Amino acid sequence: MTRPVIAYKSDPVRGAVWHDIFAREAPDLRLVDWTPDGEAAAAPYLVAWTPPPDLARAMPRLQALFCIGAGIDHLPVHELPQTVQVVRMVDPNLTASMVEYVVMAVLALHRDLPFYRTEQAAGRWTPRPVRPATERRIGLMGLGVLGQAAARALSGFGFPVRGWSASPKSLDGIETFAGDATLSHFLSGTDILICLLPLTPATRGLLNRDLFARLPSGAGLVNAGRGGHAVEADLLAALDSGQLSGAILDVLATEPPPADHPLLAHPRVVVTPHVASATQPAGAARQVIQGVRAHLRGEPIAHAIDRSQGY
Ligand code: GLV
Repeated sequence: MTRPVIAYKSDPVRGAVWHDIFAREAPDLRLVDWTPDGEAAAAPYLVAWTPPPDLARAMPRLQALFCIGAGIDHLPVHELPQTVQVVRMVDPNLTASMVEYVVMAVLALHRDLPFYRTEQAAGRWTPRPVRPATERRIGLMGLGVLGQAAARALSGFGFPVRGWSASPKSLDGIETFAGDATLSHFLSGTDILICLLPLTPATRGLLNRDLFARLPSGAGLVNAGRGGHAVEADLLAALDSGQLSGAILDVLATEPPPADHPLLAHPRVVVTPHVASATQPAGAARQVIQGVRAHLRGEPIAHAIDRSQGY
């Protein structure tokens, strides 16, 4: 019997791990490296972060596109026939790294690290009062797999955590808010705001002047979602006016940013180069194996996006 083919178009070094896992754990499937013709182009499945251009034409038999990352906003979903499923990566390592990043960023803002970094550079010793975690309210936007895990970890430090999402979610010990009508109330009780939203037409530019103005004065911001969530000119203005006291950003509108990007030089901003979290190849390969096998059995693929919602 011919084995179903999964085309792999990503980093070749990580690809070696994928080939190893498929050889050992999925002899019923065949993983082939991407080439624009032949077996890979005729495959029903593709694993990629950057698919080939003009994907619908390049892979006319495609049935499922497995994204190698958590976010799928960069994929040409609207160009694909409705029958093609698009699947996000949900991997325990990816979740764990995102939780680490969010905790690191929140603690850095909570403990005034951007301020102390500036003081140190100026040769100053300027202690500030230590505020207990129980008095710092954390607001998390985006309560998917990553957001829920981050919310739980932050609760463990004693922070009062609230979460906001487009559709209602309920989480033990976390106050949740849903939809635009609740946004002002959610923001008014948020001292450190974290963005882990998916990027969709509804969330693009959401971190803007109007939203910053609804936070308590001096709030902090962590953006580990997408650069497109923030209006960077508004973010700079909110930092300069003191409406925001500091920001930790893993994502920017243009990546990599130009060397003279004002956020890179801002004394109260820490920028990391889109490294908050990354898929680990072994876990990712196993998720794809499970997804392909489910699809072959005619069952739903776990973590397939709802194409009408875009995430
Ligand atoms: C990275 O940004 C991802 O979406 O996995």
